[in-house]
Amino acid sequence: MPTNPRPRASSKLPPLSALTVRGFKAVRDSGAVPLRPFNVLIGRNGSGKSTLIEALQWIDTALRSTVPGAFDRFRGLPHLLHVGAEGRVKGMEIELRWGEAARATTYRVEVRHPGRVDLSLGEWLETTSKTGAQRQINAPAAPDLLALARDRSAATAPAREFWANAVFLRLSPAQLGGGATPFRGSLEPILDEEGRQLARLLKSLSPAQVARLVERVVELVPGMRGLVVNDPGEGMELHYSLIEELPREAGKRARRHEVPAWMLSEGTRRIVAILALLECSPAPSLLCIEEIENGLDPWVVQRIVQHLRAASSQGVQVIVTTHSPWLLDDVPLDDILYVERAGGETQYKRFADMDAVRAFSPYVPPGTRYVQGLS
Ligand SMILES: Nc1ncnc2c1ncn2[C@@H]1O[C@H](COP(=O)(O)OP(=O)(O)OP(=O)(O)O)[C@@H](O)[C@H]1O
Ligand SMILES: [Mg+2]
Repeated sequence: MPTNPRPRASSKLPPLSALTVRGFKAVRDSGAVPLRPFNVLIGRNGSGKSTLIEALQWIDTALRSTVPGAFDRFRGLPHLLHVGAEGRVKGMEIELRWGEAARATTYRVEVRHPGRVDLSLGEWLETTSKTGAQRQINAPAAPDLLALARDRSAATAPAREFWANAVFLRLSPAQLGGGATPFRGSLEPILDEEGRQLARLLKSLSPAQVARLVERVVELVPGMRGLVVNDPGEGMELHYSLIEELPREAGKRARRHEVPAWMLSEGTRRIVAILALLECSPAPSLLCIEEIENGLDPWVVQRIVQHLRAASSQGVQVIVTTHSPWLLDDVPLDDILYVERAGGETQYKRFADMDAVRAFSPYVPPGTRYVQGLS
C-alpha cells in the first residue's frame, strides 16, 4: 500500500571541503580552495584573506536578507566585481562543496551584471550519491531572493541548517560592551558580526553551559568567578556582567563584585564571545573569525586556538584569519592556507605544499618558516 513519504529528518552536512570564488573583489579565479575542519588564512595585508570569508558571508547575508542587501556592504555590485573581469557580461560566482566527491553536496550561486539590466541570478544545489547527482534547486525564487532561502523541502534542509547556524565575526569591543535586544529574529545569526547581541546569546545558555563557559573564562582571566545576565524585562536591553573576586588580607572573606560588560577589559569581552559560541546550542556550523589574535595576549591566543581546534573536531568548522606567526606554531601545517596577491591575482595555497616552507628542516616552527621564507 502506498504511504505518504514523510519528510526526512534533516541530516547534518559534513564540513565544507572546498570553496571556489570567481570575479569577487580581489579574486579573479581562486580555483577550488581546499577547506578542512580547522583553517588558518595568513598572508600580507591586502592579499585576499578577508575576501574569501566575505564570499561566504555574501551568501549568508543574501540568504538572511536579499541579494541587493548582500551588496550593501560593498556599496553595490559594481564595486564588488573583480576589476580584472573580462568580457561584456561581468559577474561573480561562489561555489561550495561539502564532503568528498562520492557523496558531496555542492551549492553554486552566480550573479551576472549584463549592464543595462541590474543583475541576473543563477543558483544550483546538488547532491551526489550512489544513485547519481540529484538536483534540488536550479533557479532563483525571485529576482532579489535566493531560492534556498525560500525553499522548504526536506532535501534542502541540511544546506539551510548549515547557513542558519553560520557565524561571521569581526568583533568590536564597543559593541560587545553594549546592550542586546531581548528577542532573536528568525533570520538573525547566533551572534552578529560585531558581537552586539552577546548578552542575548549568554542568556540562551543552560546553567551547565554557563558553568563550563565560566570555567574556561576563569582559566584565561583569573579572578573571574561567575557570569550574570541582567534582563530588566519589558523589551528592554539585556546586559551581562562577570563576577570578579578580589582577595583581601588574611582572615577576611574575599570580596566579590559585578563587572558590567562595558567595564570589562576588551580582551575579556572577546574571550567571552568566542567561548560562548563554543558552548551554545545549536553550535555554529561554520565559525569565521577575522584576525583572531586582535586584543588577546599570546597565552590566550594559544588556548583559544586549542578550544577552536577541539570544537572543529566536534563539527564546528572554523576559519580564522591572522597576522600572527606565533599562532601558526600552534596548528598543524596542513591547516594553514597562505594567501598571496601577485600582479593583482589572488591565490590561496596550501602552506604545507609550498617549496619555501618545505625548504626548512621539520624542526623549524611554521611561524618562523612564514616570516623567514615567505616575506
Ligand atoms: N573589485 C575589486 N577588484 C579587484 N581587487 C579588489 C576589488 N576590491 C578590492 N580589491 C582588492 O582586494 C584587496 C584584498 O582585500 P582583503 O580585504 O581580502 O585583504 P586581506 O588579506 O584581508 O588584508 P588585511 O590583512 O589588510 O585585512 C584589497 O586591498 C583591494 O586592493
Ligand atoms: Mg582582512
